Amino acid sequence: MVQNSLPSPRVELARAKVNLALHITGQRSDGYHLLESLVVFPQIGDRIALEPADKFELVLEGPFARDLDGPTDDNLILRAIRSFVTAAGQPQHPNIRVTLTKRLPIASGIGGGSSDAATTLRLLEDYTGIYFPEEKLHQIALSLGADVPVCLFPETQIMRGIGEQLSTGPSLPRCGVVLINPKVVVSTPDVFRTMKERDNPALPAPPEHFDSIKSLTGYLEDCRNDMQSAAMELCPQITEVISALSADTRIKIARMSGSGATCFGLCEPNDAMDIERDLRIDHPEWWIASGPIS
Ligand code: C5P
Repeated sequence: MVQNSLPSPRVELARAKVNLALHITGQRSDGYHLLESLVVFPQIGDRIALEPADKFELVLEGPFARDLDGPTDDNLILRAIRSFVTAAGQPQHPNIRVTLTKRLPIASGIGGGSSDAATTLRLLEDYTGIYFPEEKLHQIALSLGADVPVCLFPETQIMRGIGEQLSTGPSLPRCGVVLINPKVVVSTPDVFRTMKERDNPALPAPPEHFDSIKSLTGYLEDCRNDMQSAAMELCPQITEVISALSADTRIKIARMSGSGATCFGLCEPNDAMDIERDLRIDHPEWWIASGPIS
C-alpha cells in the first residue's frame, strides 16, 4: 500500500552559465545594458538540496560557502523563496531545509547566484506541486536579476534585451569546456562602468546546428565578449588566464564569460580533464573545473 508521506528530498545541480559570446549593443535609459549572448550550461555547478524540516533553514556549505555573506536578506536563494511564497499566496516560508553546496566561485561571471535562484524556483515548484505558468515564473525570475530567467532552463540559448528575451540556441557538437577563475572577485556594475564602447555590432546569426567543434569555434571567432577588455583593466589576472588557456594547443578558443573573471576554453570532450589536471599543476592558486558543455 502507498502511504502518504512527507515529500522526499530533492537535489539538483545549479549549472554555471557560460557566455560563449557576449555582445553589448546599447544601453537603456534606466542604465541597464542591451546585450546579445550565446549561452551554454556545462555540467559544472553548485548543488542545491531541498528537504522537509521542522522549520525553515538555509544551510551553506562547500568550498566557496565562506565567501557568501551568510543567509542575509540579500541572499538570492532567500529572495527566490520569498518571491515564490508571495506569488503562490502562501502565508509564510515552507518548513524546509535548503542546503547550498557552493562549488562555483562567487561574483565570477558564470551566473552562480542566478543559477542558484533559478534552480531554487524549479525545486520549489516540484516540492510544493505549485507550478506557475511559464510567463509568471519568468517574471519572478527577472525580478531577482537579469540573468535569472535564462538559468530556469539550463540549455543552449540566445539572450537578448537586458537578458530577459530568450530563444532556443543552436544545437552544439559534443564539446568539452575548461573553466578558470583566478580567484579575484570582479563587480559587474564596475565592469559596465569601465566599458568605453556600448554600441557594438550585433551577434552574428548562428546556424541552427553546428556539426563540429571546428564549425562552432569558426563562428565564435567572429564573435566577442565586449566586457572583456574593461574587465582586464580592473583585473589583470584575466589576461594571464586567457594566455594560459590559449597556450594549450588542445584548447580551440579561449574567452571570458559574463563580466569575468572566469574564462573558458573549448576542447574535445576527452581532453577536458587532462587539460584541467595540467593547468592545476602550473596554477594551484586558480579555481579550475572541466566537463562536457551540455
Ligand atoms: O540584474 P542584476 O542584478 O544581475 O545586475 C547587476 C547589475 O549589472 C545591475 O545593477 C546593472 O548595473 C548591471 N547590468 C546592466 N545591464 C544588464 C544586466 C546587468 O547594466 N543587462
